[in-house]
Amino acid sequence: MQIVLATRNKGKIRELARIFAHELPEVELLGTDNFPELADVDETEDSFEGNALLKAVAVSRFTKLPAIADDSGLAVDHLKGAPGIYSARYSGVHGDDEANLQKVLREMEGIANRRAQFVCAAAFVAPNGYQKVIRAEMVGELISQPRGANGFGYDPIFVPEGFAQTTGEMAPDLKDSISHRGKAMRELAQIISSERASWEQ
Ligand code: IMP
Repeated sequence: MQIVLATRNKGKIRELARIFAHELPEVELLGTDNFPELADVDETEDSFEGNALLKAVAVSRFTKLPAIADDSGLAVDHLKGAPGIYSARYSGVHGDDEANLQKVLREMEGIANRRAQFVCAAAFVAPNGYQKVIRAEMVGELISQPRGANGFGYDPIFVPEGFAQTTGEMAPDLKDSISHRGKAMRELAQIISSERASWEQ
C-alpha cells in the first residue's frame, strides 16, 4: 500500500518513514517528488490544522492516493502565539531560519516570561473522503543565546521542559521521541492502522 507524504523535504520523509515502519510496516511512503506535475499548495488557512488538511486534501485529490501532510511552528506565549502559522516566514523571507530566529530573539529581549511551544498538526486524507487531523505540542522555554547545530528553524533557542539541552543540541532520535511532530505522527500512524477499514475502500 502507498501513502503520499505532502513534502519534498527528504529529511521529513526519512523521519516519517522511521515512525511508520513501526506502526504500518506494509506502507510505502512516497514524497511529492514522485509527482513532478503537482503544484505547491498555498497555506491560506488561519490554523495549523486547517493548513495541514488543505495540503493533504490537495495531494490526495491529485494523486488519487491517501495523503499525509503536516503544518508546524513555534508559538511564544509573550508574543500571543506568534510566530505561529507564520513561523517559516516570520522575518518576511520564506525559509530564512536565521533571520526568523533573530526576529524572535529581538522581540524577546529583556522579557522574563519565555514560555513557548512547538506545535504540529498532522492530517491524513483518503480518496474515499476519510479525514483525520491530530495536533501535538512540545512545551519549553526560549533562551537568548542560540546553541546547537543539529536541528533547524528555532531549535537553537528552544529548551524543552525537563531538559537542559536545546532541541538543536539533541540527538535526532531523542528529539523525535519528545517532539510535536514525532507525537502527532505516531498518533496519526496508529489511527491510520486501526481505522484502516474506514478509509481503505
Ligand atoms: P512548515 O514547514 O510550514 O510546517 O513550517 C515550519 C516552520 O516552523 C519551520 O520553518 C520552522 O521555522 C518552524 N519549526 C517547525 N518545527 C520545528 C522544529 O522542530 N524545530 C525548529 N523549528 C521548527
